[in-house]
Amino acid sequence: MSGADSIRMEKLCYSIGGRKILEDFDFLLERGVNRTILGISGAGKTTILKLLLGLLQPNSGKVYLGDVCITGASEAAFMQLRKRIAIVFQGGALFDSMTVGENVGYRLFEEGRLSQSEIEQVVREKLSFVGVEPALDLYPAELSGGMKKRVAIARALAADPEYIFFDEPTTGLDPIGVYNICNLMQRLQAGGTTTLMVTHDLATAFATSERFTFIHQARMIFDGSETEMKTSENAEVREFLTPTEDSLFV
Ligand SMILES: Nc1ncnc2c1ncn2[C@@H]1O[C@H](COP(=O)(O)OP(=O)(O)OP(=O)(O)O)[C@@H](O)[C@H]1O
Ligand SMILES: [Mg+2]
Repeated sequence: MSGADSIRMEKLCYSIGGRKILEDFDFLLERGVNRTILGISGAGKTTILKLLLGLLQPNSGKVYLGDVCITGASEAAFMQLRKRIAIVFQGGALFDSMTVGENVGYRLFEEGRLSQSEIEQVVREKLSFVGVEPALDLYPAELSGGMKKRVAIARALAADPEYIFFDEPTTGLDPIGVYNICNLMQRLQAGGTTTLMVTHDLATAFATSERFTFIHQARMIFDGSETEMKTSENAEVREFLTPTEDSLFV
């Protein structure tokens, strides 16, 4: 069962270069239930986000938004979908040739629904929400890593999405930067946005999510709460939470 607004993967298979990344993968993201996807590097976490957004097409299986199957849908249908779901990519993916303000406002500008001054107002509001309004006229090259991440979040917020996907939003940040991203996510959640995060940062995951999905060797091997994960008997989950000498690569 799923709510009318949920996002769902059903028996999804995805391979690249002859390697199975996802096999018979079932996944449910319910509105209001903030979730983190965990798994070792290369497990396929970013791939899941891209498949959910239709940026990649599965070999088989389906993605649903509510009751509507979006697998193989038209580009117009995906444009509608991407108004409801925004993504903050690993690394930010800002446009280097645009200022911070232009980066945040470009989607609204392309849509053409709002006037220039209305767009400027939204841009300022979103930049102020993430605490980087003074950077409005700077270029991405002039920003620190933490500022880039916050601008990328402001850009994702521009269309007031229902869901925001965060791909490793705290990687490379100092503890204060991590704290700020955590706080930002919590404020978004309090405002009704549902977050789906991919991260290796367990403290941020536990501070911002109620449910956890663990992916290992193309399959979901755990799905549950923080307590369930911390008491899981699954060997891979236990090793991920508490690596031992057996985890050494050498
Ligand atoms: N364009 C591509 N060509 C070939 N292999 C790819 C391509 N994109 C991803 N892969 C492979 O797919 C697998 C999953 O990649 P993905 O980026 O989803 O991993 P991830 O779990 O997000 O890893 P990380 O934690 O390092 O970001 C990796 O083994 C990667 O090498
Ligand atoms: Mg990744």
